[in-house]
Amino acid sequence: MIEFRGIKKIYQMGGHALEALRDVSLNIGKGEFVSIMGPSGSGKSTLMNIIGCLDTPSEGEYYLEGRNVAGLTFDQLASIRNRMLGFVFQNFNLLPYATAWENVELPLLFNGKNAKKRRERVAELLEAVGLLDWKEHRPSELSGGEQQRIALARALANDPPIILADEPTGNLDSHSGEEIMSLLGKLWKDGRTIVMVTHDDRIAARSERTIRLFDGQVA
Ligand SMILES: Nc1ncnc2c1ncn2[C@@H]1O[C@H](COP(=O)(O)OP(=O)(O)OP(=O)(O)O)[C@@H](O)[C@H]1O
Ligand SMILES: [Mg+2]
Repeated sequence: MIEFRGIKKIYQMGGHALEALRDVSLNIGKGEFVSIMGPSGSGKSTLMNIIGCLDTPSEGEYYLEGRNVAGLTFDQLASIRNRMLGFVFQNFNLLPYATAWENVELPLLFNGKNAKKRRERVAELLEAVGLLDWKEHRPSELSGGEQQRIALARALANDPPIILADEPTGNLDSHSGEEIMSLLGKLWKDGRTIVMVTHDDRIAARSERTIRLFDGQVA
């Protein structure tokens, strides 16, 4: 489902080039639950951003469901993101002035769903993460764990087959972290592909396989 062949990512910083990923090749199959581990600065987020079509590699080929996405235009990448990928970040990345309901509704608006369909889907998603009663709350009126559950509901809005989570429990207490992991576990059992970055061995142990990065290379 996700295949990297000789992926490099080079950031130009002032005068010099920083190689964040050097020759990464990997395969993640449909329905796999994979964790990505490695020291700070080893390239984990860079790797996730490329998998998620939020960034493009400097060299190499990236096949997503057999299609080389390395050469696609900005619009084509946006369309793939919308259909195929759901994102969860360490800092939740919710819109601060929007309610829980509005945050979850946003990807449905981008997808052109009509108002009735949107209402039904948002209610279903908020119910699934146990936060329908919190729908009028803004992010600042929710705990970290609640914000992350809203972020997960938003990630699922268009029912993507792949969920990318970059340290989803990094800012959470262990109880809220457990809630997020159990939701991710459910999504995996439903057949989704999950790729998750973590620094925590116990969290990584919930996945089927760990890919370790060191200095931009798979160890
Ligand atoms: N937009 C950017 N411009 C320039 N350099 C960048 C950029 N993003 C990341 N880097 C550099 O690329 C390297 C890899 O960064 P990355 O964020 O992928 O690491 P990480 O493994 O996610 O680290 P952490 O565990 O701290 O989140 C680092 O040296 C970082 O400074
Ligand atoms: Mg990172």
